[in-house]
Amino acid sequence: MEKTIDETKQGAALTLDSNATNARKLYIESYGCAMNFADSEVVASILSEAGFNTTQELNEADLILVNTCSIRDKAEQTIRKRLTEYNKVKKTRPHLKVGVLGCMAERLKDKLLDEEKIVDMVVGPDAYKDLPNLIKEVDSGRDAVNVILSKDETYGDIAPVRLNTNGVTAFVSITRGCDNMCTFCVVPFTRGRERSRDPQSILEEVNDLRKNGFKEITLLGQNVDSYLWYGGGLKKEFEKASEMQKATAVDFSSLLKMVALAQPKMRIRFSTSNPQDMTLDVIRTMAEHKNICNHIHLPVQSGSNRILKAMNRLHTIEEYFTLIDNIRSIIPNCAISQDIITGFPTETEEDHQATLAALEYVKYDFGFMYAYSERPGTMAGRKMEDDVPQAIKKRRLSEIIALQRSHCKIRTEQHLNTIQEVLIEGTSKKSKDEWMGKNAQSTVVVFPKENYKAGDLVNVKMNSCTSATLIGTAVGYSENN
Ligand code: SAH
Ligand code: F3S
Repeated sequence: MEKTIDETKQGAALTLDSNATNARKLYIESYGCAMNFADSEVVASILSEAGFNTTQELNEADLILVNTCSIRDKAEQTIRKRLTEYNKVKKTRPHLKVGVLGCMAERLKDKLLDEEKIVDMVVGPDAYKDLPNLIKEVDSGRDAVNVILSKDETYGDIAPVRLNTNGVTAFVSITRGCDNMCTFCVVPFTRGRERSRDPQSILEEVNDLRKNGFKEITLLGQNVDSYLWYGGGLKKEFEKASEMQKATAVDFSSLLKMVALAQPKMRIRFSTSNPQDMTLDVIRTMAEHKNICNHIHLPVQSGSNRILKAMNRLHTIEEYFTLIDNIRSIIPNCAISQDIITGFPTETEEDHQATLAALEYVKYDFGFMYAYSERPGTMAGRKMEDDVPQAIKKRRLSEIIALQRSHCKIRTEQHLNTIQEVLIEGTSKKSKDEWMGKNAQSTVVVFPKENYKAGDLVNVKMNSCTSATLIGTAVGYSENN
């Protein structure tokens, strides 16, 4: 499995209050990372309180909100194209209002109102509680903008409304923002400084999900290993905390343990790990708790120390390999996946070969690979020339993808002839007679439905495979079902 684009999208699929016939209809669409999808569920919750029903029909919307991504230029272009589609709807529904949420809102601020005439409202990632007020502004004929980033907003007190849910797996946000300042990355500018959410509210959300029948959660953050709760406040201000706060602080491995123990039958995943912050404690905690899935998404970005340094990734490739060795010795069957950027400024053929060598060393289960896209305002955008020609970026990217694909096949084949627990997520896209689920290592598994149902944990014998999908038959329920 590999992916080179981030332009995934999803519309809302929930009627919040079918009795409220005069409620206005919200159509919400999300692009980009899992955090955006999770945030849209917070937005749906805030607006249900303000009397909005969500709809899946663009043509019946009174309010369109688009939760946007700025990570690469292509992501922004996709959204701008989408805005022209909304414009067509507006022709038949002149009262329709359009709001831009998320990273593009934060990056472009009120410039977006000038650049895209269709947009009435621009709302950054920390300002969603202000949406009911901003909508009132817009209703009275004014444009509305709130792009203020917060020191403490985590939306920890809001119970997200699950949109487009399969009823089986859900995201739970644990941190917001990022302090890492990788030189290529726009996230610290669009999502602000890093802050962690109260573990109590995380546990409540997880317990609630279990009560509602969910079987798997993914703890979400830009850098989950950096999670640190000391009573609230920014991560970078932890040094100023009292001795008492420091002594009782909860780090990521403790949080993971708390969640694993609170719901021992629930599968637990997390994303994303950052090599410079991932501790042996986290790896040991994974090994100690059967319900924490054996998969780590561990972006490497490049195999060249010179490029890693220029990217302000605060580790060498040798340190990264040591971390991989530790993971493999503590959790021998742990799946590991990557993010890689090719064609970062000044990248030479030698640097590119070092990235291919890193792929060979780890033989990742899967990965997400991208050509470098210069982002205005970032350190690399300001200080470095985007000097690797497009054609070379493209060629290097295809070499990386080809090698990753061959490793993906090797990793998938390693599961053949084993019996593994699979959580059924829903019907397979290819056949209505087959289920699609994942094993603990996140490999997709399909198998005949028989009498099983979505949400069941089933032991499956792996009979054959394609490069990224295992094809099996069920042999019975898992003891964890
Ligand atoms: N820590 C984050 C990373 C967010 S961005 C997380 O939770 O996933 C996801 C990936 O996009 C990064 O790991 C990086 O590989 C890629 N990326 C970020 N900025 C990019 C840019 N300017 N050009 C190309 N790829 C980029
Ligand atoms: Fe971006 Fe680096 Fe943070 S990739 S999200 S600045 S860890």
